[in-house]
Amino acid sequence: MTEEQIRLAVTGAKSLDQLELVRVELVGRKGSLTEQLRRVGDLPAAERSSAGAEANRLRLAAEAALKLRFAELRAAATKSELSTPLDLTAPGVTLALGHRHPVSLVLDELIEVFWQMGYQVADGPEVETEWHNFEALNIPETHPARDMQDTFYLEGGNLPRTHTSGVQIRFMQAHKDDLPIRIVSPGKVYRNEDEDARHSWSFYQIEGLVVDEGISLADLKGTLEAMMVGVLGEGTKVRLRPNYFPYTEPSVEMDASCVICSGTGVVDGASCKLCSGTGWLELGGAGMVHPQVLRNVGIDPVRYSGFAFGFGPERIAAIKYNVGDVREFWRPNFNFLDQF
Ligand code: DAH
Repeated sequence: MTEEQIRLAVTGAKSLDQLELVRVELVGRKGSLTEQLRRVGDLPAAERSSAGAEANRLRLAAEAALKLRFAELRAAATKSELSTPLDLTAPGVTLALGHRHPVSLVLDELIEVFWQMGYQVADGPEVETEWHNFEALNIPETHPARDMQDTFYLEGGNLPRTHTSGVQIRFMQAHKDDLPIRIVSPGKVYRNEDEDARHSWSFYQIEGLVVDEGISLADLKGTLEAMMVGVLGEGTKVRLRPNYFPYTEPSVEMDASCVICSGTGVVDGASCKLCSGTGWLELGGAGMVHPQVLRNVGIDPVRYSGFAFGFGPERIAAIKYNVGDVREFWRPNFNFLDQF
């Protein structure tokens, strides 16, 4: 290749893209000038020095020509871009803005309420040991309470957690010498459950735990009231009914006054549909931490007491946003989800 041929090839490029192709052909890894330089080594010794000098000269000439042409084409491209009138009224590229999921909205509100009361957010694993999920919570292998929380077992004896209550155990074990404890723990749980409008095989819970000296059921009720007022609005009332959980004593079921009929059970002279005319909505379980559970994690139940609770944020979201079927929350249905 002569210097003139190189010059013609380079100036023949009419755009930056074409010039790039020419560059690769000439001085790229497999370019003709690169090859020429490589072949110098194969020549008889007597010819090597002059052939090497020639190959280098052509390569330098090509690089200089490429550089010059690049500058010319680049300047021309900029000029043509600048001379195109800019339409400031043209619609821009709009990005679809995402939004938080309704269950996340409820969880965030709950966490905000507890954060204001000095709680920490604690996390736990979704795959749990039987000990943390059941035994340490006073639910031995043969206990009927296991039946209500049947799930899928994994090899090695672990299981997808059936509730967030195992986080109580983990947190107490880790902080038994660092009391008081005030935590909430939101997360997913799993059960062997037939699906319907109110049940799903996987759902969220939010667990709460307080351990300190002198904690009483009155503290639990006040806390639950603050939580329900925070998430369902001023004027919401809370009532506790006796229930049974192996890990609390006494155990209670918590109801909040119905958000539709304000606890009257009546809407426009007819029975309220949301609460079936009772005026109350069942929202979750709670109680005073069982002394045996405290002992299981090495906390002295004579000196310390505590309360715990567990709720389903999907149920709260369903009530708050008037959603009739909790399965809607987890379907990929944007017509539904985009309402939030
Ligand atoms: N773990 C219970 C459930 O999944 C809810 C619950 C009840 C949690 C009472 C608690 C509690 O911490 O004290 O149904």
